[in-house]
Amino acid sequence: MKTTISQVPTYEGQEVTIGAWLANKRSSGKIAFLQLRDGTGFIQGVVAKSGVPDDTFQLAKNLNQESSVYITGTIAADSRSPFGYEMQVTAIELIQEAHDYPITPKEHGTEFLMDHRHLWLRSSRQHAVMKIRNEIIRATYQFFNDNDYVKIDPPILTGSSAEGTTELFHTKYFDEDAYLSQSGQLYMEAAAMAFGKVFSFGPTFRAEKSKTRRHLIEFWMIEPEMAFIDHDESLEIQEQYVSFVVQSVLKNCQLELQTLNRDTSKLETVKAPFPRISYDDAVALLKEKGFDDIEWGEDFGAPHETAIAESFNKPVFITNYPADIKAFYMKPDPERSDVVLCADLIAPEGYGEVIGGSQRIDDLELMKQRYDEHGLSGPAYKWYLELRQYGSVPHSGFGLGLERTVAWIAGVEHVRETIPFPRLLNRLYP
Ligand code: 4AD
Ligand code: MG
Repeated sequence: MKTTISQVPTYEGQEVTIGAWLANKRSSGKIAFLQLRDGTGFIQGVVAKSGVPDDTFQLAKNLNQESSVYITGTIAADSRSPFGYEMQVTAIELIQEAHDYPITPKEHGTEFLMDHRHLWLRSSRQHAVMKIRNEIIRATYQFFNDNDYVKIDPPILTGSSAEGTTELFHTKYFDEDAYLSQSGQLYMEAAAMAFGKVFSFGPTFRAEKSKTRRHLIEFWMIEPEMAFIDHDESLEIQEQYVSFVVQSVLKNCQLELQTLNRDTSKLETVKAPFPRISYDDAVALLKEKGFDDIEWGEDFGAPHETAIAESFNKPVFITNYPADIKAFYMKPDPERSDVVLCADLIAPEGYGEVIGGSQRIDDLELMKQRYDEHGLSGPAYKWYLELRQYGSVPHSGFGLGLERTVAWIAGVEHVRETIPFPRLLNRLYP
């Protein structure tokens, strides 16, 4: 029976064949232990000299790392294996012998590993991170589908900028100028007026010259947008969504979290509701904590966010930032027009901002005023104004950065390990 490692538990006591690669091996005169992987999991194959023909034992003993095989054997429960099973090997068919695989079980430098990203992805650590990423995506679709959202795909080539013009990737669109999308939000607002509750999940691009552990040039964003939902209601949706994602990973990725040595007690507390602190109070808190440099009206940097997060054992919303440091579309606080109805969600443990969101301006005249202030004009923005002209309603939305969320939940230091092929400053390959 041909199967995969993931299916092995259903074949205890039976003989199966698995297509696999050799991740690592140990052998003595009488026995060889093969660490096998097939993408669905990892299992140890035990080859006993006494149990197989002599040429099979020699093949097992001499097999090089990353050689590909069809391997046949009997599945047995094994309490010492984290996976719970091993294979008592009876036959090995070599598909290809690999020679001099560059990534050995010893330590390698980050640049070396990044240059070999196409191979590095095979390691058990990278495998665990990508499986957690996959679970976050799966849980995202489940959450929004269960709550009657419609998945809408905004365009990637656009003529407009949602988050300001400094970070846009420019390209030609035949004779016109075009940009790679830095956020699908403006289109998601149009979609919310057509479908009520919508979400998108797609790549976004920012030509940011930032070389930090939180910044990618190309990253994936989940952007829900909801008609008839105000700022406070949006925060409740955000904390429900993030809690659901974290609890889903805890439930379905035990093995992966263990592979990464993640301290899961820090994730178990991540349940709605999350604390909220206003920008005003956050500035005061930072001053208390000895950040004498920060003044009201300035944006927070990574050290500020980390310091604020340290005061809470859950993700924390920083709400109502000064209008001047936020995007043109955010609705002013009706009681105080110098701040806007927005929030950034800051993850614990120094992982920084994972969500940016706000209630949007729904008043046509105010939006026209913002257009003038920000110099927005032309066909690229005309349609967005019309959303305020035909049945405008209160609406809110937010964007969750997938890679920062993976980094936080998986407990991975740098976002470069949270996306299969990271696009970073100075790195377009592999
Ligand atoms: O805060 P941002 O810029 O918000 C928006 O783009 C809104 N239009 C979203 C919306 O309301 N629909 O980005 C949202 C999130 C951030 O909180 C962060 O998690 C992530 O996207 N992000 C990045 N992740 C990796 N690398 C970068 N360069 C990122 N820039 C933003
Ligand atoms: Mg932001």
